[in-house]
Amino acid sequence: MSQHASGLSASGEHASLSSLPTLRVAVLGAGTVGGEVLRLISQQADELAHRVGGRLEVIGVAVRDLDRDRGEHVPAALLTEDAASLVHDADLVIEVMGGIEPARTLLLDAMAHGASVVTANKALLAQDGATLYEAADIHGVDLYFEAAVAGAIPLVRPVRESLAGDRIQRVLGIVNGTTNFILDAMTRTGASFDDALATAQQLGYAEADPTADVEGHDAAAKASILASLAFHSRVRLSAVHCEGITTISAQDIAAAARMGRTIKLLSIVERIEEEDGERISARVYPALIPEEHPLAAVAEAYNAVFIEADAAGSLMFYGQGAGGSPTASAILGDVVSAARSRVHGGVGPRESRYAELESIPLEELRSAFYISLTVEDRPGVLAEIAGTLSGYGISISTIHQELLEQEEGSDEPAQAHIGISTHRALESAMTASLDVFSSTATVLSIDSVLRIEGE
Ligand code: NAP
Ligand code: HSE
Repeated sequence: MSQHASGLSASGEHASLSSLPTLRVAVLGAGTVGGEVLRLISQQADELAHRVGGRLEVIGVAVRDLDRDRGEHVPAALLTEDAASLVHDADLVIEVMGGIEPARTLLLDAMAHGASVVTANKALLAQDGATLYEAADIHGVDLYFEAAVAGAIPLVRPVRESLAGDRIQRVLGIVNGTTNFILDAMTRTGASFDDALATAQQLGYAEADPTADVEGHDAAAKASILASLAFHSRVRLSAVHCEGITTISAQDIAAAARMGRTIKLLSIVERIEEEDGERISARVYPALIPEEHPLAAVAEAYNAVFIEADAAGSLMFYGQGAGGSPTASAILGDVVSAARSRVHGGVGPRESRYAELESIPLEELRSAFYISLTVEDRPGVLAEIAGTLSGYGISISTIHQELLEQEEGSDEPAQAHIGISTHRALESAMTASLDVFSSTATVLSIDSVLRIEGE
């Protein structure tokens, strides 16, 4: 920081902006989010200076391609390929480049040189948040990451600060906009997964390589961050059970609608109280939820999250979980907090992991299920399926059967689709039943296995 002067004069009036100290800000990345961060910093420079009590001076912007024109808010003179030198000179580093390396090394280096860090990098936080937290602690700097979970929606701050005096039981929500857009399009139009994904890509919601979104990895990274904060434990990405939406078919969507339900990719983190203590679960999977559930109405690429806490009760957060400008809003909030600490002293929240709760393996959880099978249509098949389920203690809630059309004159055995929803049962019991079905001659295929939530 180049100068130390209070934002308030001795008489308590606001000092002129020119007398405020200057904070040197390095921005790593000038893509979708970085470009918007730079626009907001430049357009709101005076207001931000008043709010912080210091001026934010962008000293450089690290990119890969120096030649690309990035518009008026990203002056070419600030661009550099030398991110490593840039972070050595900064009071505050905003990391919006993404990926694990070189982002991790740059942030550790920045903190070692005394800079506070604001990052949107959920992948890095989920994979190696512990190292970043430790570095922030050792070097007495701040680490903020509101934008890493659900874009513009304030979620990290409520969980780690506003609810720090409460006891969070559960966080459940839609934290990936791309998959919500795809599932919403499939629900509204009856489109297949592939067609809905292609539409999402044409409209710029899904990336050319959509793997991180559609396989659930992005949502799992966010679940790992939320679970760690909510339960004061380090919940590693490897402890988050993750299933994506690539296997969801138009038939699944239609079956859900027939049952008065809709399919959403949910991130669920919860505290599970047991006789001899408590454990936690963090998981991401597509699930059927009732059409009247508030999450069912979350359309397009929006995100929504419920938090259940002992004293606060239920809280719902809703808004834009992605996009340059919404994500930049969350980053600027963090920038103001980190910059205020630099100007006025103090440190932001540190890692809280005193509880060190263990994760419960998925097999030990109980869920209600919807399973869909293609079977031979002959006497005894349904009884056989029901017998297998009941043998593993699984109670059927509803059954729907539909005969499949057969070619005229075919002497192949007739086939039927059977859709079964169950009451809550152990995951391990369902896995065992499915193992039996996969070796049962009359069960021709297991078409879907989905959980039912929100009832
Ligand atoms: P992006 O559009 O791909 O931009 C990445 C930027 O980082 C580009 O300017 C790129 O330079 C630069 N960059 C990448 N690797 C670099 C390297 N090794 N050295 C120097 N510069 C490098 O990505 P984004 O969508 O803005 O996302 C940035 C971060 O925000 C990610 O962590 C992402 O997960 C997170 N985030 C994004 C959103 C969203 O809606 N996009 C929402 C929440 C969080 P070039 O321009 O020269 O290629
Ligand atoms: N790809 C993410 C989404 C945005 O679709 O929600 C960044 O978190």
